[in-house]
Amino acid sequence: MDSFVIRGGRSLHGTVEISGAKNAALPIFCVSLLAEGVHFFRNVPRLNDIDTIVELVRYLGAEVEGEAPVLRVATDRLHRFDAPYEHVKKMRASVLALGPLLARFGEARVSLPGGCAIGARPIDQHLKGFEALGAQVTIEHGYVVAKAQRLRGAEIVFDLPTVGGTENIMMAAALADGRTTLLNCAREPEVEELARVLNKMGANVVGAGTDTIHIEGVREMRPVDHAIIPDRIEAGTYMVAAAITGGDVLLHNCRLDHMESVAAKLVQAGASVTAEGQGVRVRAKAPFRACDATTMPYPGFPTDMQAQFMVLMCLAKGESVITETVFENRFMHVPELARMGADIEIRGRAAVVRGVPKLSAATVMCSDLRASAALAIAGLVAEGETRLLRVYHIDRGYEDIVAKLAGLGADVERVRGDA
Ligand code: UD1
Repeated sequence: MDSFVIRGGRSLHGTVEISGAKNAALPIFCVSLLAEGVHFFRNVPRLNDIDTIVELVRYLGAEVEGEAPVLRVATDRLHRFDAPYEHVKKMRASVLALGPLLARFGEARVSLPGGCAIGARPIDQHLKGFEALGAQVTIEHGYVVAKAQRLRGAEIVFDLPTVGGTENIMMAAALADGRTTLLNCAREPEVEELARVLNKMGANVVGAGTDTIHIEGVREMRPVDHAIIPDRIEAGTYMVAAAITGGDVLLHNCRLDHMESVAAKLVQAGASVTAEGQGVRVRAKAPFRACDATTMPYPGFPTDMQAQFMVLMCLAKGESVITETVFENRFMHVPELARMGADIEIRGRAAVVRGVPKLSAATVMCSDLRASAALAIAGLVAEGETRLLRVYHIDRGYEDIVAKLAGLGADVERVRGDA
């Protein structure tokens, strides 16, 4: 297994290119299942999670050619309607195949994802939505089996805003008979992006990006050529890295309007964040101010930025409280940060962070994608040589992170295998 070696102490300077959004790309590969023909996806990030979704659509019968950032997906020979456990266990987002398969073929069989490192993460809201659209949903041998001659539009109120649930039901409703209204929807930019793609394919979706989405079902959809929005979480991660190292970094190809809550926290902590051309510039100098943050559905502070922001607070002056309200078990980075000298106490869903003057390098273990990114950031400022183990978690969601950080002046290298 590869590891990263990071020698801390360099501040980051220069320009970094932000890749396409992983969480926008994954549902977009699934949406291709809704229409027969040849799709082109552009600005696709080169990531292990993308390889996993490509494997899944290939398994279903799609032909995928090309290399990120441009992939050609031909969906005229789909011949399977199931997503086996091997795919779903690698990546939960594989459950997003359920909606499109059910809508297009009247049948889908997708493995239940089960729990994951950051919590139980049920898909009850997805299933409730399919049932409301008239599908018969059963759980058989660890699989969700959904069947419907034809889906019919319905009014569905989500118990809580779920990104994947909103996306799955939106895709299914696009080909249903009649009108669907979804209430209490997730408002993430990736949901809006999916609606944009659906509409380019001939669907009729209105309101995505707000908590109420209306979908007028259509009989048929056409293939699409689409460039994916920039990854706001990758961008946010580099923003924290730039700030904590006292750097000056231009993030090229990203959208400040998708990152207002993260930018506001960085400014509160003492950094400067400005829109510049097609990107965002972050400049900062210690000392940082301690500030509290609570994760919320969009447009609140993203749970996917909680771990990275916590590292900045580890070095801020004073005490901050970081509360995680979206997932129940998302503090796995805390014990590893403690091994690097951070002073953090977990109290239920909150982490109380008392700023320390410095972090010191250690060998640390990556546990999930964003926790790993946080440890990499900690390594950039820790005294000495930090070794990050199990970096396959980072490779799921950060394209070329070693090259991008090194390009900004960080002293970081990937060590192959168990060396
Ligand atoms: C997506 C993102 C993930 C991000 C998360 C929250 C993708 C591929 N992943 O995950 O990076 O951390 O949004 O911003 O886009 N829930 C239920 N029942 C359901 C569905 C969800 O109780 O049927 C709960 C979850 O357990 C969680 C909360 O709702 O506590 C939000 O989850 P959700 O928005 O669905 O996250 P994902 O779509 O899985």
